[in-house]
Amino acid sequence: MRILVAGDRGYIGAVLVPFLQAAGHTVEGLDLGLYEGCDLGPGPEDIGLRPRIDMRDVEPRHCAGYDAVVCLAALSNDPVGHLNPSATYSINLEGTLRLGEAAKKAGVERFLFASSCSLYGAAGSQAVTEDAELFPVTPYGETKVLAERGLSLLADDSFSPTYLRNATAYGFSPRLRLDIVVNNLTAVAMTTGQVSLESDGSPWRPLVHVEDISRSFLAVLEAPREIVHDEAFNVGRAEDNVQVRDIAEMVRQAVPGSTVSLAAGAGPDLRDYRVDFSKLIGTFPELGLRWNVPDGVDELVRAYTDYNFTQDDFTSSTYVRLRRIQELLSAGLIDEMLRRQPTAQSVPSA
Ligand SMILES: NC(=O)c1ccc[n+]([C@@H]2O[C@H](COP(=O)([O-])OP(=O)(O)OC[C@H]3O[C@@H](n4cnc5c(N)ncnc54)[C@H](O)[C@@H]3O)[C@@H](O)[C@H]2O)c1
Repeated sequence: MRILVAGDRGYIGAVLVPFLQAAGHTVEGLDLGLYEGCDLGPGPEDIGLRPRIDMRDVEPRHCAGYDAVVCLAALSNDPVGHLNPSATYSINLEGTLRLGEAAKKAGVERFLFASSCSLYGAAGSQAVTEDAELFPVTPYGETKVLAERGLSLLADDSFSPTYLRNATAYGFSPRLRLDIVVNNLTAVAMTTGQVSLESDGSPWRPLVHVEDISRSFLAVLEAPREIVHDEAFNVGRAEDNVQVRDIAEMVRQAVPGSTVSLAAGAGPDLRDYRVDFSKLIGTFPELGLRWNVPDGVDELVRAYTDYNFTQDDFTSSTYVRLRRIQELLSAGLIDEMLRRQPTAQSVPSA
């Protein structure tokens, strides 16, 4: 297949693109380039980088000739969403729908949307299936709900959107992110020796390794159209619904000499939910998701060691999406809607 990946220059894209290429597909990218140079190690492979394109300006001609479009491009987590909710709506909702419409007009049949389990929000104690009611608790979660609904309105005989509701990712990517829980706690333990949780560690989090996300996207791309047409799939493994204190304990075991402290009596955390992943496994019995959290922590420990990750790296803007965006804003390289400024020919590397 010829596949266009929007948001290919981010954390998941840097793993997904080589994964799709290794499966024999031709992949091209479309990205605003907010995180260029924000790398641990040699960085993502250059796949013939095109001029930086804002998904909000995309035209059908950008999508012409592809068999599938994958939309990873987004402001990708809750703290960034809170920075400026209207920018989050503009990119995650209007930008996503513009890309969907452009793809459909260009005759692209498949559209994979990187949605998120965070759209379940305050879901209660039951593990949520895809048909559960959605209670997003952040602007980021709201945009994922609305983008799915908008894409669904485009679904017809010629256009098949699929919504991959990813659990929180973990694991090494050359375009690393540290604002996600497993990557963060492992880095804290390695640079300070002490994991201090801001909660009592009781909230549940569904997790999934970034390579297993890629494996799931590949399976959907290669599936017969009728089984993925206008369907949502939770992406993750039942075993990786874990409590934050369990993650901290896995990290403690993997990082010699590190300790864990919990903030007993801390306030409730609204993001506390478990997710049912049986539809994904039932639809793709051969999928073979293979990573578990302890293996992912070991992988991160090796990468942080091999690339001499330091406390300065940890406190820098390089690996934290919110800090990087604030840095670009302060430098006047993007405006408050996160549009690149005409004077800025390129967003500088970190
Ligand atoms: N990482 C996770 O834990 C996780 C979990 C669930 C869902 N997701 C979703 O998966 C997708 C990818 O996540 P990620 O962790 O790789 O995020 P990321 O922030 O690392 O990458 C997002 C990419 O999108 C690009 N981008 C942003 N706005 C753009 C625009 N207007 N036009 C073109 N490109 C734009 C950025 O430059 C960046 O390269 C996102 O949609 C995110 O919401 C991620």
